[in-house]
Amino acid sequence: MLDAWRSRWQRILAWTRRGEVAAGAHWSRQYRAHAEALAAGSPVYLRRWWQAEPVVRHINARICGTAHTEGHAGFHEGIGTRWGARLPLERVVSVGGGTGGKELHCLARGLFQHVDLYELSHDAVTQGRALAQAHGLQERIRFHLADALTAAPRRHYDAVYWNNALHHMPDTPAAIAWSHDVLRPGGLFLMDDYVGASRFQWSERMLAVNREWWRALPEPYRRDPESNLALPEPRRPDPRALMASDPSEAADSERILPALRRRFPGVEIVLTGGGVYHVGLNDVLHHLLEHGDDTRLAAALALDDQLVAEGETHYAVAWAQRAD
Ligand SMILES: C[S@@+](CC[C@H](N)C(=O)[O-])C[C@H]1O[C@@H](n2cnc3c(N)ncnc32)[C@H](O)[C@@H]1O
Repeated sequence: MLDAWRSRWQRILAWTRRGEVAAGAHWSRQYRAHAEALAAGSPVYLRRWWQAEPVVRHINARICGTAHTEGHAGFHEGIGTRWGARLPLERVVSVGGGTGGKELHCLARGLFQHVDLYELSHDAVTQGRALAQAHGLQERIRFHLADALTAAPRRHYDAVYWNNALHHMPDTPAAIAWSHDVLRPGGLFLMDDYVGASRFQWSERMLAVNREWWRALPEPYRRDPESNLALPEPRRPDPRALMASDPSEAADSERILPALRRRFPGVEIVLTGGGVYHVGLNDVLHHLLEHGDDTRLAAALALDDQLVAEGETHYAVAWAQRAD
């Protein structure tokens, strides 16, 4: 079972060469380390939710009612559901697109015609250009090694695409205002991102739900899958340590949804959870998949849903249109 998960995840990695982090030198280190690990064939531990098909299916079902197996498929399907007659969107700008794996998917599936991808990491841009070439899409995606918020032209784009990069902006209302400004009238705002507590400072309620679930796990599950050392129970990261490792991490994330509702009054938002699958499931996930423990995984996802019903989420997708 685990081998199947591993090989699926290796395939996804090979397709997207995706780095899970974002600014300049910090991000370049991550992208380089990731590429080196891939090349070395290092063992893969399935520690995070996006590596687990059941979680991806759960999220897609929340968004569009269909449990697609591919990450972001529900979000992307939502573009076609709302604006199918306008596809492919002629000119799209993506901010913090990394190596562009998700944008290439959108190009290959006929959602976008051309993408201007802005990215601060030199390594990401280099890898992304090679990836685009490998997929024969190099004429339809242009990588800009630049800060999108100062470089991109105004009133120019049919859509602005944010995928797990908006939460790295230091002033998220300003980034949303910029998004509005770069769109032509009628242009689309498309977002799939972390919108939870800034600097990952989870609420007491969220921590309590996670700790209760985590403490009920068999003891061997509460060990690191690689080192076998005891894992700490779910907790908030130390904000200073988080900022030291990546100053942009969730810098102003909790202001995203309020700012979005103000700037794009007709915005459609779906909360996609993460209050459990992005906290208590970390690292433990590997054991659940290894043992085929669908019952405990389902219980975690049910708790995640319960938090969403109470208005607590980490992630959300949003689709909006510039009104004027
Ligand atoms: C978490 S990564 C997400 C990458 C990609 N969107 C993905 O989902 O795989 C965030 C990316 O944003 C980039 N970034 C941060 N601020 C930026 C800015 N102002 N302009 C362009 N890129 C930026 C970082 O270098 C990093 O690669």
